[in-house]
Amino acid sequence: MSNKLFAVKPLHLLLDETEDKNSLKKTLTAMQLVALGVGAIIGAGLFVRTAAAAANNAGPSVTLGFIIAGIGCAFAGLCYSEFASMIPISGSAYTYSYATMGEFMAWVIGWDLILEYALGAATVSIAWSEYLNKLLEYFGLNVPYSLCHSPMQVLRDSGGTVVSHGVINIPALVIVALLTILLIRGVRESSVFNAIIVITKVSIVILFIVLGWQFIKPENQTPFIPAATKYIDDQGVIHNFGGILGILGAAGVVFFAFIGFDAVSTAAQETKNPKRALPIGILGSLAICTVLYILFAYVLTGVAGIEDFRKAGKEASVTYTIQTYMHGYGWLAKLVTVAILAGFSSVILVMLYGQSRVFYSMSRDGLVPPVFSKVHPKFRTPYKSNILFLVFVGLFASFVPGDIVGDMTSIGTLFAFILVCIGIIIMRRTNPGLPRPFKTPLVPLVPILGILTCGAMIYGLGWPNWMRLFIWMLIGMVFYFSYSIKKSHLRKDKT
Ligand code: ALA
Repeated sequence: MSNKLFAVKPLHLLLDETEDKNSLKKTLTAMQLVALGVGAIIGAGLFVRTAAAAANNAGPSVTLGFIIAGIGCAFAGLCYSEFASMIPISGSAYTYSYATMGEFMAWVIGWDLILEYALGAATVSIAWSEYLNKLLEYFGLNVPYSLCHSPMQVLRDSGGTVVSHGVINIPALVIVALLTILLIRGVRESSVFNAIIVITKVSIVILFIVLGWQFIKPENQTPFIPAATKYIDDQGVIHNFGGILGILGAAGVVFFAFIGFDAVSTAAQETKNPKRALPIGILGSLAICTVLYILFAYVLTGVAGIEDFRKAGKEASVTYTIQTYMHGYGWLAKLVTVAILAGFSSVILVMLYGQSRVFYSMSRDGLVPPVFSKVHPKFRTPYKSNILFLVFVGLFASFVPGDIVGDMTSIGTLFAFILVCIGIIIMRRTNPGLPRPFKTPLVPLVPILGILTCGAMIYGLGWPNWMRLFIWMLIGMVFYFSYSIKKSHLRKDKT
């Protein structure tokens, strides 16, 4: 049995699958992959989690957190690129590990990717809800606090008295539902639409950096690294604030902002010349975003202070910062709000799509029930899977705070990155002869550095998040040993 646990899906089988009649058209170029990456990457991580990390973890030194997260992603990205060029098949890290580390590890990664994609979608939809409220303010409207927050959240007045309780986050649920309907109908972002979204997102980030620079107040960034202490937020959660631990915690939180560059690898099957285009797509989009993020975080934490991000500017922090401190730029606040809402929608769509794709692959392998690969007779989309994930993502979006789902997304993805780094080291030993159009440089050093950097961020996220990851994986184990192990197609073929 232990041998079977580590049975790998033969590469030729995987590659044959790309040739079957359901295979996808190969149209994407390297530049389109970079655009796809940037489109999937810039989102709530930058426009919401940056302020949260500044408030709870690191103050202005959140900028250093971005550098650590960017470095960790670069190491992991180099490993992803080797896998993606060697196994240019959709399904992401799940598929890679099935071919290399065997079924059990593939299951672990596939299960873990639910945290990345499904909870990632929930996090961005909660952030969407914050910015929707800002937009409604321009029309003199607003969604009552209780209807756009989770039951685990309370609103306090300046004296600390609770004035409202969250009940359900309806806007977050609505956006997930709307995008699920689009997905079911087979709507995918066309590359033209994606290009418009990318240009819009990058433009507002650059505009904010350039126009905001003159409003930076040195006192907001002094000291740049706050002294280590504990901070208890208004929901009663204790955070390590300041010092090295604060920076590591911030890195773990803003790591969310980088999630999505690996989504480029899920488009491998639709890429022309994937061997060259994939590494360019993955590393190129990562490089562009890292530079923008560092500058953006520097300006944001220079224009507004920590107290802003803890109180009045806690939600929709970018619009708040422009409205409050960048006088004469009211137009920018409005533009940013609309652009962010559009940008978030595209991120949610990519994540919901990625989730259904991973489960589609797992279902075709027999590891999750066949319902996840049932295709709609007319739209040819895995509609039942989309509906089940609407329920799952919708529950988190409606009832859990963005901080919690955001950090669960981060820790889950960090864990997947570590497994991918380990996979590269194993693969070099077990399959040294396989053609590797792109080779991760300096193996095992680069994967080891990837493991260490991602591990440090997991450490920084603290024990409540370790527990959540542990419990989630435990649920996965129960599922695997009670269902998947019996239904796996690979096992059936072998016996
Ligand atoms: N990186 C994506 C975002 O920040 C997930 O929204």
